[in-house]
Amino acid sequence: MSVLPSEAIAEWNRLVKQIAEYDYAYYVLDEPGVSDVDYDQCMAQLKQLEADYPSLQSPQSPSQRVAGSIQAKFASQQHRLGMYSLDNAFSDEDVMAFWQRIHSLAPQAQPSFCAEPKLDGLAINLTYENGCLTHATTRGDGVSGEVVTANIRTLHNVPLVFRTHSPKGVIEVRGEVVMSKRAFQALNERQVAQGQKPFANPRNAAAGSLRQLDARITAERQLQFFAYAVGFVEDVSILAATQTGVLKQLHQWGFQVAKEVSHLSGVHALLAYYEHIQQQRDQLAYDIDGVVYKLDDRALQQQLGMTAKFPRWAIAHKFPAQEVWTTLEAIDIQVGRSGALTPVARLTPVSVGGVMVSNATLHNADEIARKDVRVGDTLVVRRAGDVIPEVVAVVAHLRPDHTTPFVMPTECPVCQSAVVQESDKSVHRCSGGLYCPAQKQRALEHFVSRKAMDIQGLGGKVIEQLMASGLVAHADDLYRLSLLQLINLDRMGEKSARNLLVSIDESKNTTLARFIYALGIPEVGEVTAKSLAQHFGELAPLMQADEVSLMQIRDVGSVVAKAIVQFFAQPHNREVIEQLRLLGVHWLPAEKVDGAIGSAVMNKIVVLTGTLSQLSREEAKAILEQLGAKVTGSVSAKTDLLIAGEAAGSKLVKAEQLGVEVWDEASFIARCISPLKDQA
Ligand code: IVH
Repeated sequence: MSVLPSEAIAEWNRLVKQIAEYDYAYYVLDEPGVSDVDYDQCMAQLKQLEADYPSLQSPQSPSQRVAGSIQAKFASQQHRLGMYSLDNAFSDEDVMAFWQRIHSLAPQAQPSFCAEPKLDGLAINLTYENGCLTHATTRGDGVSGEVVTANIRTLHNVPLVFRTHSPKGVIEVRGEVVMSKRAFQALNERQVAQGQKPFANPRNAAAGSLRQLDARITAERQLQFFAYAVGFVEDVSILAATQTGVLKQLHQWGFQVAKEVSHLSGVHALLAYYEHIQQQRDQLAYDIDGVVYKLDDRALQQQLGMTAKFPRWAIAHKFPAQEVWTTLEAIDIQVGRSGALTPVARLTPVSVGGVMVSNATLHNADEIARKDVRVGDTLVVRRAGDVIPEVVAVVAHLRPDHTTPFVMPTECPVCQSAVVQESDKSVHRCSGGLYCPAQKQRALEHFVSRKAMDIQGLGGKVIEQLMASGLVAHADDLYRLSLLQLINLDRMGEKSARNLLVSIDESKNTTLARFIYALGIPEVGEVTAKSLAQHFGELAPLMQADEVSLMQIRDVGSVVAKAIVQFFAQPHNREVIEQLRLLGVHWLPAEKVDGAIGSAVMNKIVVLTGTLSQLSREEAKAILEQLGAKVTGSVSAKTDLLIAGEAAGSKLVKAEQLGVEVWDEASFIARCISPLKDQA
C-alpha cells in the first residue's frame, strides 16, 4: 500500500476547507463567493485526490454529501435528551399570562427574551463529535426518531465540520428542516409535469423529501436547515449564558440561524414583534406558523424546568391558521377571455388568516377529478400571500351521503355554445368566440387594463352595463362614447363620466407594444407583445407576417406564431383595428430594433447599478430594452452584463466575483446610445 504523502493530506485539507467556505458563503450567508465553474473545479480536484488516495475518503469530505447506498429502511434511535415541543399561545392574553408566570417564578429580574420565527418544517437533531457530524435524527415521538444522516448530509447549509474551532466531545444541534416557498413551487411543477401528486404544502414536501431511502432524491430537493437550539452538550461550560448567545455561537460554528431573531424585554415588545413578523410573513422565503419567545437566560431556564410536555420558559405564539375547513356549496363555471372554462368553488364564507374567503379556484376538470371534489364536501382551503385561495384537499370522512362527481357542462353556461376539449385535455373551452358575451366582456376588460390601454374608471361593472345597453360591442365603440351616454348609466355621476372620457381620450396616445398586448391575441402576453413591437416597429408588417417569419422572433414559438396569424386572418379583427386607428389611437413608430445596432446587448440579461450621469436609470433601462436586452434587478450567474455607473457597490463586487462582463457609463453610451443617435 502506498504511503500517503503529506502534500496530499495538506492539499485534501485545503480543498475540504475551501469547499466548506464556498458552501457557507453561498448557502448560509447567501453571498456566492465563487463562480459555479470554480466551485466545480475545486470539487473535481477533491474527488480526483480521493480517487488517487482512497485512504483520504471520509464522511467529513464534501465529496460525500451525496453518497452511500439506498437504504432498506430507517433505523430508529433514542434521543440523548428528549425533544420537547412547545406550549402554544393563540392570543395576546395567553402571552401576557405566560409572561406573568415567568415573572412570578423569577421575580428578581425583569426577564428578557429571545424572539424567533417559528419555522414550519420538521425538527431534526444533529450530533457532532469533536466538531464532526456523525448522526442526524428526526424528532419522531420526541423520545426516539429515525436516523436520516445520509439525507441530512445532502443539505449544503449543514456543516459537515464546525467552521471555527471544534469543541471537544459531543454537541447536539437542533433545528428545523424547511423547503423554501420557491423550491416548493418548482418541485410541485415538476411533480405535476411528471404525472405525480403535488405536495400539499412546503412542510409536507420537506418531510417527504427528507424521508427518502435514496438520499440522491433528497439532494435534488433543495432543503435547508435552520438551527435554533442545542440539545445534549458534553461540556456545557463552552456554551453562552443566553439563548441569543447560543444562536450567535451556532452561527459562528457555521449554521444558518433565522435572520429575524430579536432580543426583547417587556410583554409589549413581544407582542409588537409578533405583529411585525406577521406583516413580513408573506414576504419571507419560508413558511412560518408563528413566533417563539424563549427566556434568554439559560440559568433561569434551568430553574423553571419542564412540565411533562413543554419547557416552562418558552412558548409558541401561533398565527391564525392559513388553512381552514369549510363546505363546498356549489361549483360555478367562469368563462375567461379565451373561452377557457374555470370551475370556481363557492364556499361557506370562512375567515382564513384574518381574511374572509368565499371563493377558491379549482383550476380545471382534471384538478377536480384528481382531488375528487364534490358539492357538499368539507374542504381544506388555503390562502398564501395574495394568491387566490386554493382547495388543498377534501376531508374524506366528512363526505355526506349521495354526493355525485363533478362533470363539466357540455354547453357554455353564458352563451350555450358547445364546449370543446383541447387536445391536451385539461382545458375546456366555449366555442362561441366573441359571440359569447362573457368572452367579449373579458376581452374588453383586458383591452382597458393597466398594462394594455390603461383606461382608468372602466371596471367590470361599467363594461357590463355598456354591453347590456348596447352602447359597446367592440373595443372601438369605447372611443365613440359621449358624456350623455355615460351619465345615463347606473351609479355614474357627471364627474366620473367626465374623468372616464378624459382617460379614454388619453389612452389614444399609446405604444405599439401596449396596443398589440391590448388586442388580446391568444398566447401573446406583455413580453411577447414587446418583442413583436421591437421586431416589427409598426403594425402593418406584423399583420402580414407568416408563421415562419414570426418564429424567428424571441419568445415566439410555433403555437404563438399560429395564434398571431389566425388572429389577423379574421376580417372582424382587422376591422376593429382599422376603426381604432381612424378614431385616433396612435403610437410613435420608434421602437424597431436594428439587429446590427442592438447586437451588443441583444438577448442579453443586463443589470444596471450605480449612478449614471448622462441619463436616468429608467431611461437607460428603456434604451436597453429597446435594443433587445432583458433588464433585471440583481446579479446572478445568469447575468450577461453589468452596467456600472458612479459609486457602484455590492452588485459590482458580485459581478466581478462571478466573472460577469462589466461596462462603465462611457462604454454603454459608445456602444448603445451613440449608434442610435447616428441612425436618427
Ligand atoms: S424550540 C424545547 N424554536 O416547533 C423547545 N422550535 O412546537 C424546542 N420550531 O418541535 C423547540 N421554529 O419543530 C423552537 N425557533 C424555534 C422553532 C421551533 C420551529 C418547531 C420545532 C418544535 C415545534 C414545537
